[in-house]
Amino acid sequence: MADLYDWVNDRLGIMPGLVYVVRRKIPADVNWLYTFGSATLFLFLVQALTGGLLAIYYSPSPDHAYASIQYIMNDVTYGSLVRGIHHWSASGMVLLVVAHMLRVFFTGAYKYPREMSWMVGVVLLVLTLAFGFTGYLLPWDEKAYWATVVGTNIAGAMPLVGDWTVRLLRGGADLGVLTLNRFYAMHVMLLPMAATVLISVHVAMVIRQGISYPPRRDE
Ligand code: HEM
Repeated sequence: MADLYDWVNDRLGIMPGLVYVVRRKIPADVNWLYTFGSATLFLFLVQALTGGLLAIYYSPSPDHAYASIQYIMNDVTYGSLVRGIHHWSASGMVLLVVAHMLRVFFTGAYKYPREMSWMVGVVLLVLTLAFGFTGYLLPWDEKAYWATVVGTNIAGAMPLVGDWTVRLLRGGADLGVLTLNRFYAMHVMLLPMAATVLISVHVAMVIRQGISYPPRRDE
């Protein structure tokens, strides 16, 4: 390991920085509630990996989407396992991100100097929910179709911009090929890129500032 360390460091000079990140000190009295952020990050990586594998067989067109999911479930080796992990991790990520936000709120960690971590976090929360909303349509079965009809109708209830938003989401008045393509592009390209950038910024801020001290009764 020492040789590998020297070999990489001779060329890039980044090893002391990486060691600092991994071995930096954290408050002695943090507890399990402080692991929700890292657990969310872990599930995000699980989603990226399993989603990439699913994309090898999934076909984002109304003619083939449903059949491609059936193929993944019944014929692809470990296909149902990979899809199952993607399905349950999606719900797990929503639960964990909310748990993480509640921990941050109730320990007052959103206050000075961590307001920017909180604001980036709010956008990450919206992105996490958008992942769920766009992913739900992709199986293109009855449940997916009607859930998206209802979800987009709710957006249509907004004053002034409601109709415009529905047409933007659906790519027209009704659900069809454009809707599925838009949701797929969001789900596998735009949202992952945005989330990767923002999670990197979020974690960089945590490393720079350190994790906040748990509140103490007398202070
Ligand atoms: C994809 C979603 C998210 C990921 C991967 C993520 C990741 C992390 C990680 C790894 C930490 C280090 C401390 C810990 O684990 O508790 C952290 C801290 C923090 N997060 Fe998040 N987070 C996410 C969403 C959010 C949300 C929704 C909020 C609030 C609206 C938020 C606000 C904060 C704040 C203020 C800190 C600093 C906490 C402290 O220093 O005690 N994060 N986040």
